[in-house]
Amino acid sequence: LLPGRPYSDTKVDLTAAPGLGPLKPTIVKTSPKEGQKPGTSGLRKKTKVFTQENYLENFVQSTFNAIVAAGTDITTGTLLIGGDGRYFNPEAIQTITKMAVANGVSRVWIGENGLLSTPAVSAIIREQGPTWKKAFGAFILTASHNPGGPEEDFGIKYNCENGGPAQEFLTDAMFENTKTITQYSICKSFPTIDLSKVGATRVEKAGLEVNVEVVSTASTHVALLESIFDFPAIQKLLDRPDFTMIYDSMHGVNGPYAREVFCKRFGLSEDTMMNSVPKDDFNGGHADPNLTYAKELIAVCGLDKKGLKIGMTDKQVPDFGAAADGDGDRNMILGKQFFVTPSDSLAIIAANSNKIPFFSAQGGLKSVARSMPTSGAVDLVAKDLNLSLFETPTGWKFFGNLMDSKDLFGGKDYTPLICGEESFGTGSNHIREKDGIWAVLAWLNILAAANSKPNKPLTSVEDIVKAHWKKYGRNYYVRYDFEGVDKAAATAMMAKMGEMREANTNKAVGAYTIATADIFEYNDPVDGSVSKNQGVRFLMADGSRVIFRLSGTAGSGATVRMYIEKYEADKEKLHLNVLDAVGDLIAVGLSLCDIKGFCGTDVPTVIT
Ligand code: G6P
Ligand code: ZN
Repeated sequence: LLPGRPYSDTKVDLTAAPGLGPLKPTIVKTSPKEGQKPGTSGLRKKTKVFTQENYLENFVQSTFNAIVAAGTDITTGTLLIGGDGRYFNPEAIQTITKMAVANGVSRVWIGENGLLSTPAVSAIIREQGPTWKKAFGAFILTASHNPGGPEEDFGIKYNCENGGPAQEFLTDAMFENTKTITQYSICKSFPTIDLSKVGATRVEKAGLEVNVEVVSTASTHVALLESIFDFPAIQKLLDRPDFTMIYDSMHGVNGPYAREVFCKRFGLSEDTMMNSVPKDDFNGGHADPNLTYAKELIAVCGLDKKGLKIGMTDKQVPDFGAAADGDGDRNMILGKQFFVTPSDSLAIIAANSNKIPFFSAQGGLKSVARSMPTSGAVDLVAKDLNLSLFETPTGWKFFGNLMDSKDLFGGKDYTPLICGEESFGTGSNHIREKDGIWAVLAWLNILAAANSKPNKPLTSVEDIVKAHWKKYGRNYYVRYDFEGVDKAAATAMMAKMGEMREANTNKAVGAYTIATADIFEYNDPVDGSVSKNQGVRFLMADGSRVIFRLSGTAGSGATVRMYIEKYEADKEKLHLNVLDAVGDLIAVGLSLCDIKGFCGTDVPTVIT
C-alpha cells in the first residue's frame, strides 16, 4: 500500500510539492459562517444557504478537523459519501470528494448516482468484508423528510465508524471549528467522478494513490436484509393470488431499494412500486410517510387523512401498503383500509420477533426501547416476554448507545434489541439508524408466518393487530402537531406547564386525575449522561398520558407536539374510532397547555 496523505500541511507541505498534478491541494482562505451547529440529524438549512460560497466547504473542513483531532485516522480506511438524491446532492458529492483527497483521504466510496439511503450508509460502514476496507465514516447528504429543491432544504450529516450519527462531543467540536475556520483544502483539479457508473477511478501521482469507487446503491443493504428475514417464506406470501401490496417511496431514495427487493428478488411487478424514481425535489412533495403527507398511498389504500375508511370495495384495495421518507429511514405500515400506528407496529414486531431469523438465531430478543412519547404498547410486550425495557428521549441516538453498550462502552449486552419511535421510525441493532425497509420486511415476515398453513384464508394486517389488542389491550394513541407557532410563545407555554407540575399533581381534570406531572429526564445507563428537559408529562391515574414537547426538527418558528395516549383493556372497547376514544383526553390536553392562550390557536396542522 502506498502511504496515505498527511492531513495537515504541518508535516509535509504538499501544496508546494512538485508533480502532484490532480492530487495537489489548494488552500482556500475562508471566514466563519453563522449558525453551522449540527443537530443529531446533521446540519439542515435552506438549499440557498448551502450553495453560498464556501458554506458547504467550511462545514466539511470543520468536520475533517474535528474527526482527526478526535483520533480518526482518515488516511487509511475509506470515506463513504451518498445522499437522498435531493437537489445539490451531485455538486456537494464532487466537492466533498475533492476536499477529502486534499485532506489525506485515499479511498472514497460513493453511492451510484450519488444515492444511498441513511440505513444503507449505516450498513455499508458496518460491513466487514475481505475485499472491502472498512469505512471510518460517511457524509450523508439529506434533510430526511424535509422538502427538497432550490427553494427548499438541504442537509449534511456525518456518521462514524459504528455506523451511527456522530456523538454530541464530535458535533460540538465541528461547531467550534466552524466558528474559527480560516482556510480549507481542496484538490481543485481532481477528476470529477462519473456518478452514473459503478466502478473505480484511480489517481496516482508522486508515490501517492487515491481510489474513488462508485458502489451499488442497494446491494450491501439488501444482502444484509436477506440475512435477517425469512425471504423464502415472504416469497410464498407474495406469490399468493389473494395477497397484493403497494410500496410508496415518495420519490425519495428508497425507490432503488424497494425495486431491488420486491421487483428483482421477489419478482413483483413494477405496479407495486409507487413513486419509486428518486427526484431531486421529491416531485414537489413532502416525503414524510404519515397520514397527512402520504396522500396518494392513503387514498389507494382506501383511507382518509384521519385513517378512516373511505368507500371502496375490498378488491380495489391492496392487502398491504407501506411508505418511506426521503432518506429511507422512516416507515408507515398499512393493511387493507387499516392504519397501524408506529407505536403499535413496534409492539407487534417485538411480540412476533421469534418469527424473524435474525432474532431467533440469537436465542431470541433481549431488549426493547422506545422514545418517551411513544405509546406504552411495547411495555406490555416487554413485561409479558420478560424483556429489558428502555424509555429514552426522542432521537435515535439514545438507542445507539444501548446497542453499543457492550462493544464500545464495555457494559452489558442489551442486544438483540428492537426499538422505535412514534415518529414512524423502527429498527434494530442490525445497524445504527432506523430502517424503513427493515420494518416493511419485518411486517411481511410476520404476515408470512401467520399464513404459513396452505389453503387457509389470508390472515390480514388487521387480524394481526386486533389479535394483539385482544391479548394486551389497546393503547389508543394520537399526536397533534401545531407547526409554525411563535417560538417564544411556545417556550413560555412549556415553561408554565413545567412550573405548574407540583400544583397539577393529584389534580382532577375532566374525567381524569393527574397522578404525576413532571419534566422527563433521562439518565443514560450506558454512558452515564443526563438529558434534561425532554418534555412535560401528565401521567393520569388510569395509565393514560398527555405529553408535550417542542420539536427538535422544526423548520421555522416552533412546532408544539401534543401526544395523547389512553389505555383500554375492556374487550368491548377495542375497536372504537381513535378520535372518539381519546376525544375527552384531547380536550384535557388542550386545557392543560392553554395553547390557544399562548400561541393563538388550538387547531393542529397535522394529526398522526
Ligand atoms: C428525526 C429523528 C428521530 C426523531 C424525529 C422527530 O427523525 O431521527 O429520532 O424522533 O426526528 O423529532 P422531533 O423533535 O421533530 O419530534
Ligand atoms: Zn428520514
